[in-house]
Amino acid sequence: MMEGGVFRHLTREEMKATLHSYHPNRFLATPKGRKVMKTMNTFKITILCGFITILVLRGTLGPGGMFGESAPQVSYQAELRKEIIRSQRARVLAQVEEAVADEVTASKFVEEEKWDPSTPYRLGPKISDWDSQREAWNGLNPGRNVTVSGKAKTLLVSGSQPGPCANPMGDFYHLKFLKNRIDYARLHGLEFFYNMATFEKEMSSFWAKLPLLRKVMLNHPDVEWVWWMDSDAIFTDMTFEMPMEKYGKSNLIVHGFHNLLYEQHRWIGLNTGSFLIRNCQWSLDLLDALAPFGPEGSARVEAGKLFTEKLVDRPAFEADDQSALVYLILYGDPKWKEYTHLEWEFFLHGYWKYVVYNYEELMAKNHPGYGDERWPFVTHFVGCKPCKVGESEDGENDECFIQMERAFNFADNQVLEKYGYTHSALSSFMTHKIRRDTSDPLGLQHLSARRSKLAAAKQDTKKGLIEQKRAQEVLKETDLDE
Ligand SMILES: *[C@@H]1O[C@H](CO)[C@@H](O)[C@H](O)[C@H]1NC(C)=O
Repeated sequence: MMEGGVFRHLTREEMKATLHSYHPNRFLATPKGRKVMKTMNTFKITILCGFITILVLRGTLGPGGMFGESAPQVSYQAELRKEIIRSQRARVLAQVEEAVADEVTASKFVEEEKWDPSTPYRLGPKISDWDSQREAWNGLNPGRNVTVSGKAKTLLVSGSQPGPCANPMGDFYHLKFLKNRIDYARLHGLEFFYNMATFEKEMSSFWAKLPLLRKVMLNHPDVEWVWWMDSDAIFTDMTFEMPMEKYGKSNLIVHGFHNLLYEQHRWIGLNTGSFLIRNCQWSLDLLDALAPFGPEGSARVEAGKLFTEKLVDRPAFEADDQSALVYLILYGDPKWKEYTHLEWEFFLHGYWKYVVYNYEELMAKNHPGYGDERWPFVTHFVGCKPCKVGESEDGENDECFIQMERAFNFADNQVLEKYGYTHSALSSFMTHKIRRDTSDPLGLQHLSARRSKLAAAKQDTKKGLIEQKRAQEVLKETDLDE
């Protein structure tokens, strides 16, 4: 009872007294305090040893073992880290597989339609009068389709995978990029939806945006424009706004180049990392036209072969949504080209390798608000695989992470400026004050001081005028007297 009963020696009152007058040094100087410290330290070491043992055992006994068969000299720590990430991921996925719907939830399920792979894939029941359905809804809900400033509503839509990234750095940058979108949406009165759920299991990876965009359009009839942004794209001009007035009757605004697309038929003639699509029948039809190329499996593989054959410089890989759009614009119904606006005057999408290395120079010479090469609107990390471990060759992912941090801070400086801070360097998440704090943050005292000074000056002038007049009158009087 005496040994190991350090905590029991303290009665409730003593404990309270100790906590009340708690000061680490004073308490630790007492014999009791030293004893508590010793016990705590032993405890900490025991836990640490246990933790290390578990890590090593996992690394050694897990699939593949601690040392890869091919390269036994590969950094032990990196291997161990990868192994831990892999086993954690496997555990999370196992939990997902095991999950059984509880009764209350399950009672809400409807049966999902099974896709018959011998028929073209469809996103849902055919809708052919969406424009009039929307118009009717907006007629019944007057005022809902405009923002507080009276403009047509835009909904920014983005998303990332439902489970944890194999590389935790990926989740870290998804969070930072999400913060960046929240900032941009707040600053420009956009509505915002971020999705982390799988809507149609056949439409995985790049294709997940199709069912999502359709669901968003159908469930937000008040919204005129839906703005899609890939999870690896970030706003880098926080002031720039889309010049919507110039797009007229266009239904799809996407970054691209006329010569690359229409003359050279290149698969990178446009980029679908960031685009605006109007909530209308044309857009639902476009999604329907793209969908058959998308389902995972042979349909996607076969479509990939077709695109590689038809589009210039496209590497051989399964079908992606960008190639499908390029293909439809070049070889499909002419209406796809007719209502698509290729935006090239500013970076609705800016390839990261062309823009990130210029940030410092731009900051020295320019200011936000241009959106073009003077201050890129969107920086898009095409080709980076932040969520995957060991996917890239020659450490490209490391460069991606360095540049993602810089892009984030470049944008974040524009947000923090209002609060009087800036990042110490683009590569640093540390910040510095750029303004001294003041008791007059709104500048009102300053303003009223100036006002009263002005008023006093006016008063002076008035007084001066009156005196002048009097003097003149006195002069007149003396004149008359003479
Ligand atoms: C909002 O809806 C009404 C009714 O359909 C329509 O007349 C009006 O043009 C719409 N406004 C905008 C900004 O879309």
